[in-house]
Amino acid sequence: MDKLLITGGQELAGELTVSGAKNSALPILAATLLSEKPVCIGNVPHLHDITTTLELLGCMGVELSIDEKLNIDINSSTIKKLEAPYELVRTMRSSILVLGPLLARFGEAHVALPGGCAIGARPIDLHLLGLKKMGADITVENGYIHAKATRLKACHLVFEQVTVTGTENILMAAVLAEGTSILENSAREPEVNDLAYFLNKMGAKISGIGTSTLTIEGVERLGIDNLHYDVLADRIEAGTYLVAAAITRGKIKLKKIPPVLLEAVLEKLIDAGAEITTGDDWIVLNMHGKRPKAVSIRTAPFPAFPTDMQAQFTAMNCIAEGVSTITETIFENRFMHIQELQRMGADIKIESNTVICTGVEKLTAAPVMATDLRASASLVIAGLIAEGKTLVDHIYHIDRGYDHIEEKLSQLGATIRRTPR
Ligand code: EPU
Repeated sequence: MDKLLITGGQELAGELTVSGAKNSALPILAATLLSEKPVCIGNVPHLHDITTTLELLGCMGVELSIDEKLNIDINSSTIKKLEAPYELVRTMRSSILVLGPLLARFGEAHVALPGGCAIGARPIDLHLLGLKKMGADITVENGYIHAKATRLKACHLVFEQVTVTGTENILMAAVLAEGTSILENSAREPEVNDLAYFLNKMGAKISGIGTSTLTIEGVERLGIDNLHYDVLADRIEAGTYLVAAAITRGKIKLKKIPPVLLEAVLEKLIDAGAEITTGDDWIVLNMHGKRPKAVSIRTAPFPAFPTDMQAQFTAMNCIAEGVSTITETIFENRFMHIQELQRMGADIKIESNTVICTGVEKLTAAPVMATDLRASASLVIAGLIAEGKTLVDHIYHIDRGYDHIEEKLSQLGATIRRTPR
């Protein structure tokens, strides 16, 4: 199993281009199932989760071709099997995103029930509730969700809790439903908006994009000739590199990233002492060689501070000046990185859903274990500043969501390499 070996102590400097967002690309690839015409998706990041999604579409019989720039041509008119098998769903929970599109377009779907997850229970009850409200007949048997409907009917749904993929699944079902659906308390993460813009490009009629109330006038079919759609930039990848630069007291420029996507994150970086300058699609962070100041954080749905940046900021707080609290309100078990950070010398403890951290002068390298995607990123970030060589094991987690991370960090001057042992 591959590991990352990081020698800490290099100040990051230089420029990077931000990749397309994993959490936009995944629902958009699922949404191509709704189109009666072939579509081309660009700016797709090179990630393990993307490969798994393409494998999933491929095993359903969807025709796929990828060019040298990673533009993906997708033709779902060749579909044969309306099923997402357990072998794939098990490795990637977001496979659940094919449920809404399959049901809406083909009237039937069989999707393996995702199991537990390293960051929390992550139920999908709200996805199923929404589809049932649209008239779907849903049963769960032998570990599979079996869903059937003739044509889905529009619904008025108030989500009990803000759910990103839940909103996306119901949105993808509602675009082909009969009548006008209203989805209240919808997620308004930029990736949900990106999916909605893509659906509209295919001929859907969604309004209220970017707000928590989405109105969807159902249409009979979707698909237009020669549609090419570029996935939005990855705000979490961008935020991760900004924190990496901040912890090493460096200066970096990120390109192809609209700063409006990560205002809450930039605000916290400014509180940590970073000088941030921005343009339409670039961000510069400069620490002027200073140690970061501790920042307290509470995660919440967009536009508040994202849970997907919590672990990275925790790593920064470990060596920051002062005491901080980090409260996680989205997932009940997203502190798996804390024990590993303790092993690197962090003065940090967990009290219920809050982490209390007293910044220390330095971390020391240790062999550490990645447990989920963002936890892995926090360990890599900690390794960049730790004294000695940090070996991060189980990095398949990081390959699920970070495009060529060791190449990008090397480009910024980090001493990092992938090792098979
Ligand atoms: N929830 C329910 N019932 C549901 C759905 C969600 O109780 O039917 C709860 C969850 O257990 C959680 C909360 O609602 O406590 C919010 O979960 P949400 O559904 O929003 O999470 P998700 O859609 O499964 C997406 C991202 C995650 C990101 C979260 C929160 C994708 C593919 N995944 O997950 O990304 O953390 O939204 O923003 O979009 C990551 O990239 O590392 C990652 C985990």
